[in-house]
Amino acid sequence: MANVLNVYDSFYGNTKEVALSIGRTLSEKHTVITMEAAGVTDDLIIKADVFIIGSPIHYWRPSQKIAVLLLRLQRNRVRGRIGICYDTRLEKMMAGNAVSKIARVFSSLHFITMLGKGEYFFVETSKGPLKLGEVSKAERFADRILSFIEGAAKDATQAPGFSLHA
Ligand SMILES: Cc1cc2nc3c(=O)[nH]c(=O)nc-3n(C[C@H](O)[C@H](O)[C@H](O)COP(=O)(O)O)c2cc1C
Repeated sequence: MANVLNVYDSFYGNTKEVALSIGRTLSEKHTVITMEAAGVTDDLIIKADVFIIGSPIHYWRPSQKIAVLLLRLQRNRVRGRIGICYDTRLEKMMAGNAVSKIARVFSSLHFITMLGKGEYFFVETSKGPLKLGEVSKAERFADRILSFIEGAAKDATQAPGFSLHA
């Protein structure tokens, strides 16, 4: 069991849809808190064994709220946790990249990451919906995350009080 902080930012609900799918799968085996980036407290940051961060691409990079969250991870000096990231984006040239920027922060914090640059999901238009096939891709991604955590978090000791109501 690990404390999993499953955080997203979502303007139109598409990134949230991916986050909820991941949260559903992981909560079968772990203590999972799925929430918007803006609500994350320092206490949750300190107690999380696993960070899953999902961001829409906004102007070729992570959204403002995710950028703030990443700064808070750095400020809290969290080190050596497990980090998994993804973004949602348009399928076009010059879409930019949020996930690799999140992965870069994970790597600067010596996080164990599942993939070098994470995963991404395409939306039809800025408002969504997710493109055909992306919902099942999210479900497969969630299964892969589950296996990865089980391998990587064998020795994770769950900090007590990992709760929204602590
Ligand atoms: C202000 C703004 C800037 C955006 N910039 C980009 C971009 O640079 N590249 C891209 O692929 N999509 C861009 N998009 C589209 C978003 O990726 C899309 O709205 C998002 O994936 C939808 O996720 P959400 O429903 O969780 O907000 C932008 C959307 C907004 C609202």
